Amino acid sequence: MHPRRRANPHPSLRLIAGCIAVALASASTAAQTPAQETPQPSRTAPYTIVSPPPTRAQHAMVVSVHHDASDAGIEILKAGGNAVDAAVAVGFALAVVFPQAGNLGGGGFMLVRMHTGAAHFIDYREQAPAAATAAMYLDAHGNVVPDASTLGYKAIGVPGTVAGLAYAEKTYGRLGLARVMAPAIRLATEGYILSDEEATDLAAARNLAAFPASRRIFQRDGNFFKSGDRFTQPELAATLRRIAADPKTFYTGAMAAELAASVQQGGGLLTAADLAAYQAKDREPLLGNYRGYDIVTAPPPSAGGIVLLEILNILSGYDLARAGMQNITAPDMPLLGDRTPQQVHLIVEAFRRAYMDRADYLGDPDFVPMPVQQLTSPAYAAAWRKSIQPVAPSPSATLTRPAGFLPPPPSGAYLPAESTQTTHFSVVDAEGNAVANTYTLNNTFGSGVTAGALGFLLNDEMDDFTAKPGVPNMYGLIQSAANAIAPGKRPLSNMTPTIVVGPEVCPPGPSLQCKPGKPLLVLGSPGGSTIITTVANDIISILDNGLNVQQAADAPRFHHQYLPDVLQVEKAFPLGVVEKLRASGYTVSRANQADEHNPGVWGSSEMIYIDPKTGTLLGADDQRHHFGKAAGY
Ligand code: DON
Repeated sequence: MHPRRRANPHPSLRLIAGCIAVALASASTAAQTPAQETPQPSRTAPYTIVSPPPTRAQHAMVVSVHHDASDAGIEILKAGGNAVDAAVAVGFALAVVFPQAGNLGGGGFMLVRMHTGAAHFIDYREQAPAAATAAMYLDAHGNVVPDASTLGYKAIGVPGTVAGLAYAEKTYGRLGLARVMAPAIRLATEGYILSDEEATDLAAARNLAAFPASRRIFQRDGNFFKSGDRFTQPELAATLRRIAADPKTFYTGAMAAELAASVQQGGGLLTAADLAAYQAKDREPLLGNYRGYDIVTAPPPSAGGIVLLEILNILSGYDLARAGMQNITAPDMPLLGDRTPQQVHLIVEAFRRAYMDRADYLGDPDFVPMPVQQLTSPAYAAAWRKSIQPVAPSPSATLTRPAGFLPPPPSGAYLPAESTQTTHFSVVDAEGNAVANTYTLNNTFGSGVTAGALGFLLNDEMDDFTAKPGVPNMYGLIQSAANAIAPGKRPLSNMTPTIVVGPEVCPPGPSLQCKPGKPLLVLGSPGGSTIITTVANDIISILDNGLNVQQAADAPRFHHQYLPDVLQVEKAFPLGVVEKLRASGYTVSRANQADEHNPGVWGSSEMIYIDPKTGTLLGADDQRHHFGKAAGY
């Protein structure tokens, strides 16, 4: 199956209510590549996403949550680097200019797809220190100790970012670490100008205030940074120079010793031996198919790819484009387009089922066996589909997994904590190499701890493990024993860097000389448990609904994660649709899932779409945050 050609709604960043006519026929006719560039005629919707136009470029593009980091990527591309060089440059630059989530002291995933078709998933997720135990966040009575896994030294997992970025550069880059780290070193040495939003983030962070070095560096000991101030980080600059000269110092050299000593002084578990044992892992990405496109995505220890493919597999049995138009004939139909009641219903039912499987089966693949193939098989999705009602929701409590596909799940449903900040960036170079990278400190500014005199923040990723069965976290996401804490284990993640790829191009006849498909879409997002539904909705908005990439990023989000059995929608989500969904039986919560500085919104899609007809790159920097940039040339 192929995506359908649909009209591009109007550009700007509001929802517009109006009225009417639609090329209904186009909903059921087939199979064209979505035309992002060429506006389609005839679809005027009563509600539409109004966004600025995507940023256009002819050769290469970098999209990240911070303009200085995007510019760093472009500088490296123009210096002859490939997409991996640029991505490594952006990763180090974000560690300077976006301390909320950009990091040296955290971890993440880099998905690389070269123009040859070869794809690699670099897993640089943090792992539990050797001294970690399954019950380490429980008190003598077996109760979870408040904040123990989110604030301070005991929350820190072995950081993976430096290993991951250095491995990526060495294995797939061209220019070498010293060159690609130069922009980050410059930004730390010379400083960068803080926007109002960034200054507010720094001043408001209670976890930074709790630790003297963090309070000194990021909050000027209470004389808080203001909008327009230049923020220089000399200690971080020195650390970056040392890493650029020899990245091994972070794991086995003098820096490792300093880092371990500073964490142990604070009561944390991290040792020099933990750092020496850490390795980034080059894993096979997961591969699926949706509407004729390959979906290259995150394998475990992310839950992201499995859940994403399960969602898309379930939905590929529906004509979602038609579902998006269906109510047009009903006079009381409130809204039309990317967020219609009928379409939202089908998507939510797919979310619910896929998250049920996430809850029961997933963990670190190096520690627990997982039925990945079965979970992502179209036959399993087809069996799930049979349980979806045409209009009414299936209550999560009554959901029964289709029999005969999966082994029994590991015992004990555990409830892990989620968090509020992470960051994603996307890069495409002039050769068609693409990188999707999502990395994190977990909570905003991580554990709040700065690594001694090294000038960088450390993660609280241990919180992504299960602390105790049956204790709800702030988002109520459920997981199984597969994600219990164990020494050296990596906590289950939702981060879902993904690349959507067009079909192979084969000459007519029995030739074996097919060319690999070209990347169509490079994407990912932060958002804790909402990451996977954000990525799924972005793909659906573009492939099924014909939104352009910026409109897809800006469309009001909705999320369901099986439990709690609540459909969560952003505050901008159309009320008329909420009413329809409530009438059909959904419990809907508006503005429930809060970004602490921007209640009622979540996620940040930083995406690149490559128009398959013209090759033009179209970048989308999510408008929910105000200092990002899609930069291209
Ligand atoms: O790996 C994970 O799934 C989480 N640590 C990500 C946290 C996150 O996305 C918070 N962002 N808004």
